[in-house]
Amino acid sequence: MAVDMDKLNAFIGQFVGDLGAAVHAGMVVIGDRLGLYKALAEKPMTSAELAEKTGTDARYVREWLSSQAAGGYITYDDKADKFSLTEEQAFTLANEDSPAYLPGAFQLALGALNAVPRIAESFRSGAGMGWHEHDDGVFHGCEKFFRPGYAANLVPSWIPSLTDVAKKLEAGARVADVGCGLGASTILMAKAFPKSKFFGFDYHDKSIQAARESAAREGVAERAKFEVAKAKDFPGKDYDFVAVFDCLHDMGDPVGAAKHVRQSLAKDGTWMIVEPFANDQLKDNLNPVGRVYYSFSTLLCTPCSRSQEVGLCLGAQSGEARIREVVTTAGFTRFRRATETPFNVVYEARP
Ligand SMILES: C[S@@+](CC[C@H](N)C(=O)[O-])C[C@H]1O[C@@H](n2cnc3c(N)ncnc32)[C@H](O)[C@@H]1O
Repeated sequence: MAVDMDKLNAFIGQFVGDLGAAVHAGMVVIGDRLGLYKALAEKPMTSAELAEKTGTDARYVREWLSSQAAGGYITYDDKADKFSLTEEQAFTLANEDSPAYLPGAFQLALGALNAVPRIAESFRSGAGMGWHEHDDGVFHGCEKFFRPGYAANLVPSWIPSLTDVAKKLEAGARVADVGCGLGASTILMAKAFPKSKFFGFDYHDKSIQAARESAAREGVAERAKFEVAKAKDFPGKDYDFVAVFDCLHDMGDPVGAAKHVRQSLAKDGTWMIVEPFANDQLKDNLNPVGRVYYSFSTLLCTPCSRSQEVGLCLGAQSGEARIREVVTTAGFTRFRRATETPFNVVYEARP
C-alpha cells in the first residue's frame, strides 16, 4: 500500500479548511452576539475603533478580526490597518432580514455539538434524544437560520405553488402549523394573511412559550395562537391548510402524524410538507448540502425520532420516495412535489 503524496496533501488541505470551519463556528456566534458584524458594516474600522464602538476588549477583538479576515468573512486593508465588510459579507452576516443571513446556522451547529458525548453513547445503546433535551442554542439557532429562508420563499413562492391555497388564505382560512418550533413560519403567514387564523403546535413547551412572545412582539398574537401538542393529537378540525416545516422526519411516528393531519383537514384541505432538500439515493446526496444535513441528522433528527414511539428515523435526507410512502400509507390520495429550493423541497398532499 503506497500513499499517494498528492492525494494525501489534497486531503490534508481539505482537513485544514474543515478544522478552520469548525472553530470558526464559535467566532461567528461571538461576532453575531456582540454586534461586531453589524458595527463593522457601518464603516471600515481599526480593531481599537470596533472595540470602542461595541464596548468590547480591544485585544480580543483584534484576535477575532484576524480570524475573520483569514477566513474570508471580513476584509482587511493592510495599509490602513482597517477591517471592513464587503456588500456580500454585510448582506449575509450583518443583516437579519436578508434571505441569506448565516449566523443562526452556526448557533445551531454549536448547540447541536454540545450533544456529541451523549450521542456517541447512543451509538452504543441505541437510545434517543428528544429535541427538548438539547441546548437552547439549538432552538434559537434553528429559528434564526430557517426564518430568513421562510421569509424569502414561503409567501412569495411556496404557498403559490400549492393548488388554491393562496386564495383561501387571502379570503380567510383556518391553518395549523404543526411542529412549529419558535413559530417563525406561523408568524410570517399570520402577517401576510390577516383574514386567516393560525394555530401553531409543538410538543416542546419552551419553544411554544417563545413563539407566543414573538407573536406578541410582532403584533399578531390575536390571530396566531400557540399550544403545546404532539403531531399525533393536536386539537382542531376542518383546517383548510396544515403545514409542517422541517419536522416530519424528526417525528417518531410520521405515519401516525400524517393520519392525524388527514383527519384534521377539511375535505378539500391541503397539507404542505416542507422537508430538507434530498434525493432518494444516498449516492446522490453526497455533496456539501448533504453533508450538512446528514451531520445535523445524526445529532438532532435521528435521535429525536428514536426518542419517540415507533422511532421510524426517516433522517433529514429521506427523499421524495420515502415521504410519498409515509403520506400515502396514511391515506392521502394525492401527493406531488410542488416546488423546491437548494435547501428545501415542498410537497403537497390532499385527502
Ligand atoms: C427542526 S425543528 C423545526 C421547527 C420549525 N418548524 C421551523 O421550521 O423552524 C423540529 C421541530 O419539531 C418538533 N417536534 C418533533 N417531534 C414532534 C412531535 N412528535 N410532535 C410535535 N412536534 C414535534 C420539535 O420540538 C421541533 O420544534
